[in-house]
Amino acid sequence: MHETPDFAGRIENSIDRSLTLTNTAFAPQRLTAAVHHAVKPGGARIRPTILLSVSAACGDDHPELSDAAAAALEFIHCASLVHDDLPCFDDAALRRGKPSVHQAYSESLAVLAGDSLIMLAFETIAHAADIDTLRSVRLIHLLARKSGTPDGICAGQGWESENQIDLTAYHQSKTGSLFVAATQMGAIAAGHDPQPWFELGDRIGEAFQVADDLRDALMETDKTGKPSGQDARLGRPNAVAELGAGGAMQRLKQILDAARASIPACPGKDLLEQMIAKEMSRVMPAIPASKKSTM
Ligand code: IPE
Ligand code: IPE
Ligand code: MG
Ligand code: MG
Repeated sequence: MHETPDFAGRIENSIDRSLTLTNTAFAPQRLTAAVHHAVKPGGARIRPTILLSVSAACGDDHPELSDAAAAALEFIHCASLVHDDLPCFDDAALRRGKPSVHQAYSESLAVLAGDSLIMLAFETIAHAADIDTLRSVRLIHLLARKSGTPDGICAGQGWESENQIDLTAYHQSKTGSLFVAATQMGAIAAGHDPQPWFELGDRIGEAFQVADDLRDALMETDKTGKPSGQDARLGRPNAVAELGAGGAMQRLKQILDAARASIPACPGKDLLEQMIAKEMSRVMPAIPASKKSTM
């Protein structure tokens, strides 16, 4: 049995180091506070954990670059949540068990906090560029691709404004993109070819989306820390509506098996398999017994 690496400590330290870049006496203090509110305390930090797990499996020869990439990825994720909760998107008052950023500060500060976090993500990688310039440029390029359009988060959110939603493209862009970024950025940070790591990220993203749909449909707000039943309320296509709760659960198990089988050959494959299994068990929906009987 391998010793479990302290990825959580590395991620928080890296995030805290980058956040100090925003925290000066000259900055507007309410915006600084809104940025902090969006990032700390965090949620599951699953994307940066996967990034560091892949980087470790590939040798992690520049840990400071991997740490910068991990913080950058989490900043983009946090920004996407701040914007997603705004009244013009999902109008959600609760995130991670506390008021969402627009609720706690204001809509304008939530827009600016999300924008600032997107900038901070790229600044964080640029700051680490002295470690390895080419890898840093590749990290920035990939993260930009997975954040914007045609197939990043912006595209994913953009599908919600179409008359007809392409469900696969919607899920791949909205959720899958940052999981592909997680596996591929981990490979790039460690100097490996990102291409073989696409499938693992894509499958984890798909599994994660199905798990999120199940949590939304079957779990209570006090257990998820965000409003439940949002997909049905907003008429969003989702795995539970499509397959039923039992079918979605079965689908989730199939995707997880496929994810495990898709891990590319790499020096730390065994430990990576364990890390992925552990991360996915953290996000598996805890279905209440009363709901299980209906599945
Ligand atoms: C929520 O992501 C948004 C989706 C893509 C479904 P997470 O469940 O990873 O959110 P946090 O970071 O743990 O709060
Ligand atoms: C949010 O998606 C994830 C983004 C890409 C912005 P959802 O709206 O489905 O997720 P939750 O339920 O609010 O976390
Ligand atoms: Mg949404
Ligand atoms: Mg939402």
